Amino acid sequence: MTLKIACIGAGYVGGPTMAMIAHKCKDIEVTVLDINEERIAAWNSDRLPIYEPGLEEVVFACRGKTLFFSTECEKKVAEADVVFISVNTPTKTRGVGAGYAADMTYWEGAARMIAKVSHSPKIIVEKSTVPVKTAQAVERVLSNNVLNDGARFDILSNPEFLAEGTAIKDLENPDRVIIGGRQTPSGLKAIQTLKDVYAQWVPEEQILTSNLWSSELAKLAANAFLAQRISSINSISALCEKTGADVSEIAKCIGADSRIGPKFLNASVGFGGSCFQKDILNMVYICRGLGLQEIARYWESVVTINNLQKRRFVDIVISSLFNTVRGKKIAILGFAFKKDTGDTRETPAIDVCNGLLDEGANLAVYDPQVTEERMKTDLSLDKFEWDHPYTQRKAKEVDDHIECCDSVYKACEGAHAVCILTEWDEFKTLDLKKIYDSMVKPAFIFDGRNVVDGKHAKEVGFVFYGLGKPL
Ligand code: NAD
Ligand code: UGA
Repeated sequence: MTLKIACIGAGYVGGPTMAMIAHKCKDIEVTVLDINEERIAAWNSDRLPIYEPGLEEVVFACRGKTLFFSTECEKKVAEADVVFISVNTPTKTRGVGAGYAADMTYWEGAARMIAKVSHSPKIIVEKSTVPVKTAQAVERVLSNNVLNDGARFDILSNPEFLAEGTAIKDLENPDRVIIGGRQTPSGLKAIQTLKDVYAQWVPEEQILTSNLWSSELAKLAANAFLAQRISSINSISALCEKTGADVSEIAKCIGADSRIGPKFLNASVGFGGSCFQKDILNMVYICRGLGLQEIARYWESVVTINNLQKRRFVDIVISSLFNTVRGKKIAILGFAFKKDTGDTRETPAIDVCNGLLDEGANLAVYDPQVTEERMKTDLSLDKFEWDHPYTQRKAKEVDDHIECCDSVYKACEGAHAVCILTEWDEFKTLDLKKIYDSMVKPAFIFDGRNVVDGKHAKEVGFVFYGLGKPL
């Protein structure tokens, strides 16, 4: 009998992860579900709703065969043997825990729907990143709301570790897959069922099994450790600028220690993305609730340093430009939170642009993947900032002060300064002479990703600032 999988949530995680399962397991029928009709229509079209290298090939190869996208949530969940929940779990913006706790509204809605429509045993898989102990809450919601006698549930935790921009590579060749479940005969059987799915392409020794709480907490801890590494190297970048040391040389020196390792040591204008900040703040909230105040403060400092890094960058731009950017054109190169994605969630570019707009700058923004509509919406919204509220920015003000350009050279023409905020590969090979000739003098480059050759930029005539580099 064909195993039927349904996944609630067709976002950055639900879409690619389910596509990979369908691609690798010809004996499984996978349906990805969403309440967002537009998103499902896009998944069923030639233009997928998210940009991810290699995604189209995988989706187009199995869509309509083993992979389906649908809005018929209740029907497909009722038919499924395994139901993944991959809905969004953003930070709460109002009420108790606002600014820290995860908003579990979508999650609970999905659990209640499963309880309502189920009439056969199912394995429920937590794919979203959730607070530790969520499985217990799901068990309670399910067991108290089930309407049909035949329904019975085993809950598994199977957090996702893919990074955007490399999702397909990460899913095809994961460092590890974690499956947590109850250590009961039924829980262990459920773990084995999911293990058999992944074992169709992931080596068995890389499929780690654990209890539910270890698996849930491992995901929060992994993101906290990764973000901590970036805040650590970013804090060193500030020290470098004051001492003449070079942060890239430091990263090389410390990364050569095999206990530290070379990855994830690129100093930047700050980490972004939908998850690092959200998951750390959620962990901080959990620690506080458990009376672990010092531990909470320790992890919160990772986010504090990240906010400081973004502010530091803005301050350097303003002070370098003779303490005023009012009315000056500044080119912003890159708006996505990292290269190879069109995602702008929590991108440091929002904070940097907001900081410059607050000072009256005119911004010309170029990003190869982010649409003008997306940029303007991001900058118009009253962004929820946990410790640094910006003034509300009206759409009209954004329209007046933001120009979205279709090329780097257009964005830089007539500008006083260039800020590089995303490490797109095309920024590594810019024609700096052409850019310099088209700019107001003195012309500045503020490289928030260390992608430009600073020595060459200075030779061309630029006043060059590289993050964590000798001035
Ligand atoms: P997303 O916002 O892109 O997608 C979530 C989708 O769920 C949305 O399309 C939404 O319409 C849908 N949804 C919400 N409630 C629903 C319901 N009741 N029924 C049907 N659909 C519903 O979010 P995402 O980036 O895919 O993240 C999902 C989860 O995975 C989060 O918990 C996140 O922390 C975690 N995660 C994300 C990444 C990443 O790279 N984005 C990586 C690892 C883990
Ligand atoms: C991150 C984790 O890497 C994934 O394992 C995890 O599954 C995911 O979060 C999640 O839970 O959502 P992602 O946010 O997509 O993935 O991208 P990363 O490559 O981790 O980059 C995050 C941010 O850190 C980006 O803004 C990036 O530019 C920045 N970064 C990364 C640095 O500033 N320096 C580095 O050395 C590495």
